Amino acid sequence: MDDRKIGQVADLLQRAVSVVAFTGAGISAESGVPTFRDNNGLWEGYDPMKVATPEGFKEDPRTVWRFYHKRRQQAQQVKPNPAHLALAELESIRNNFLIITQNIDGLHQQAGSKNVIELHGSLFKARCTKCSCQLDLNSCSQEILSDEPSCPKCNSLLRPAVVWFYEPLPEEEFSAAMESADNCDLMFSIGTSAEVHPAASFVWQAKANGAVIVEINPKPTAASQIADISFRIAAGEILPKIVEQYKSIGQ
Ligand SMILES: NC(=O)c1ccc[n+]([C@@H]2O[C@H](COP(=O)([O-])OP(=O)(O)OC[C@H]3O[C@@H](n4cnc5c(N)ncnc54)[C@H](O)[C@@H]3O)[C@@H](O)[C@H]2O)c1
Ligand SMILES: [Zn+2]
Repeated sequence: MDDRKIGQVADLLQRAVSVVAFTGAGISAESGVPTFRDNNGLWEGYDPMKVATPEGFKEDPRTVWRFYHKRRQQAQQVKPNPAHLALAELESIRNNFLIITQNIDGLHQQAGSKNVIELHGSLFKARCTKCSCQLDLNSCSQEILSDEPSCPKCNSLLRPAVVWFYEPLPEEEFSAAMESADNCDLMFSIGTSAEVHPAASFVWQAKANGAVIVEINPKPTAASQIADISFRIAAGEILPKIVEQYKSIGQ
């Protein structure tokens, strides 16, 4: 059954001028990063309203920073899985391929993908709460990595450069994602419940603009109703097969 669909998707990849992969927490599940919904909405026992809202940060920046330091350290220990690697390979063998991710774990980049729009920011970045300073936490001193880190330029409190509940998506990333969703012929929706808007709306937008939607998720999702082809299987099992088939038909 999946073999026929793999062939179909390889043909679509061959014909498409522009391809987007929209990814969510599920693509990192096989790397050992827990998805949100699998944990009863709790993140490692933390209440998301306390660690993932601007109000929670205002009230207790130390707890929030501790949570993000811990998540960053965990992310440093995990490796990209075959799904991330297959998407990175796809980028290297075809033109006009872009990933729009809701993930903040950096695993697409670690796998070698370069065209990645991080809609929800990154665990590896911080930004100042007052000035426009942005920092790459991979190359920061221990002082910056404290539980109440301050801006090297203006000394104000730094915050994780991730998008929290009730916050808008970053403008530049949002418009770049919008443009590519408008212009693609083929969109993969991979490992996402497609329930959190506005991020998930890119799938509907691509569909409305004529793109074929291919969903990869072991469970049905909000986007299943508009998907043209659905694979009910783990992303790491099917994506390498799709890329192999695409390569074998001569791209
Ligand atoms: N409680 C919360 O705080 C919470 C809950 C959900 C989403 N969010 C936010 O919403 C955003 C979007 O959520 P999301 O869709 O990325 O995550 P999600 O946790 O809502 O969904 C993950 C999806 O991945 C699927 N999945 C699991 N293993 C898979 C595998 N091996 N291969 C393919 N799919 C697999 C699951 O069936 C599920 O549909 C997140 O970035 C986060 O910011 C927060
Ligand atoms: Zn500053």
